[in-house]
This record gives sequence, structure tokens and C-alpha cells, in this order.
Amino acid sequence: MLGYCLRHIKGEGHSNSSYYGDLSVVFEYGDELDINALNITIAERLNHAADLASLLSYLHHSPLGSLVDFDIKPAHFKMVNGKIKLIDLDFMKNVESTCFLSSSHKNSKPCPFNISCQELNDVEIRYTNCQTVPCEVGVCRGRNVKYNLQKINNIFFQDLLKPKFFPFALNFSLSRLLTQLNKTSIGVDTLEKAIRNITLAYTNLRTHKKRLL
Ligand SMILES: Nc1ncnc2c1ncn2[C@@H]1O[C@H](COP(=O)(O)OP(=O)(O)O)[C@@H](O)[C@H]1O
Ligand SMILES: [Mg+2]
Repeated sequence: MLGYCLRHIKGEGHSNSSYYGDLSVVFEYGDELDINALNITIAERLNHAADLASLLSYLHHSPLGSLVDFDIKPAHFKMVNGKIKLIDLDFMKNVESTCFLSSSHKNSKPCPFNISCQELNDVEIRYTNCQTVPCEVGVCRGRNVKYNLQKINNIFFQDLLKPKFFPFALNFSLSRLLTQLNKTSIGVDTLEKAIRNITLAYTNLRTHKKRLL
């Protein structure tokens, strides 16, 4: 975001209109991005993967709580100076989905991604309309990060990290990582570390090859 302007309608004489914020935002311009049509080197694949993992980590560790973006789709990724960037952030939430602690509750529905329904913490209890003591409502903690991870995996990681693009020596680590991503069984910190390790292994392979030549 380069800048924004907030206009107060009432302050400008529109006394009859109900108040709403008139917000204009200016973003840097991003080019269209078609990941399958990109002709990129292995190093660029790994850089993009590291950047996307860092985006997932940024959203998850946000000071507002773990953020979910319900509008992650290919058209919302643009390219700026060779870097993938996310646009359209107005469908973002910092609330994890709710569940019922007892599976026999009439409205009980399991959490997605095989997450177990967890008890609310002190802050969550304060902002929850509990009908009973103890509260029957729980939280699908970790749903937000897994939702983002699943979307970005389907759009990017499965293609960026496809073993066929890499030296054979990296195939095992890449396949294992892709399986974990498909099962959404990997945390964002571990994902960042796994990509760093694969990048290191790739750099070592290249240095070794150069020395042999
Ligand atoms: N920073 C940007 N660079 C290039 N195109 C953009 C940018 N922001 C928005 N667009 C284009 O405008 C369209 C609508 O913007 P978006 O932020 O998705 O608004 P909405 O919330 O209405 O979906 C996008 O799909 C994209 O094609
Ligand atoms: Mg949009």
C-alpha cells in the first residue's frame, strides 16, 4: 500500500446521508501472474516458495491473532519486480471458527482439517456468548493457518516445488514436503525451515558440481 485517504461524508455537508467511511487506497501496480506459464530457474522457484511461506508466517503470527484470508485465489496474486504479492485483503478475519466441545451437542459439527475442538482461552471467553457454565462453545484453533496453507499449496507450492524441476538428489525431501503440505500437517515455522534446508542443499549441490568441473 502506497497511501490512503479517508473522507468523512458528514463533515462535507452530506448531513442526510448515514455515516460511512469513504476510503480510497493506492497500491503499487502488479503485473498479471500465471505461475504455470512462468519460465523460472530453480533458485527463483525456491525464492518464491520461501516468500510465500514467509507470507503464511506473517499472517499466522500477526499481532491481531492468526489471520485467515477467505479470498485467496490465483487472480489475487500479482508480480512486482519479480516478487509475488498478494492483493485484495478485505476478506480477512482474525477469528478462528467455533465448535461445540461436546460431540453430542445438537449443533455439533467437527472442525475442518481434523482439528479437535478446543476450550476457549480467557480473552475468547470474554467475547463469546456462552449460554452455559462451563461454556459449551469451543474453538477450532489452527483452522485459519491451515486454510491459508491449503489454498497457497494448491495454487503455488505443488507447482513451484515439483520434483521434476529439481536435481534428483532433492526429490525425496521435496516429495516429503509436498505430501505434508497436501495433508496440511506442517506448521508455518517448519515449512519455512524445510524450504531453507532444501535451498541450502541445492546451493551445496551446485557448489560441489562447480568444483568438480
Ligand atoms: N495492485 C494491483 N495491481 C494490479 N491489479 C490490481 C491491483 N489491485 C487490484 N487489481 C485488479 O483489480 C481487480 C479488483 O481488485 P480487488 O482488490 O480484487 O477488489 P475486490 O475487493 O473488488 O475484489 C483485481 O482482480 C485485479 O485484477
Ligand atoms: Mg478481488
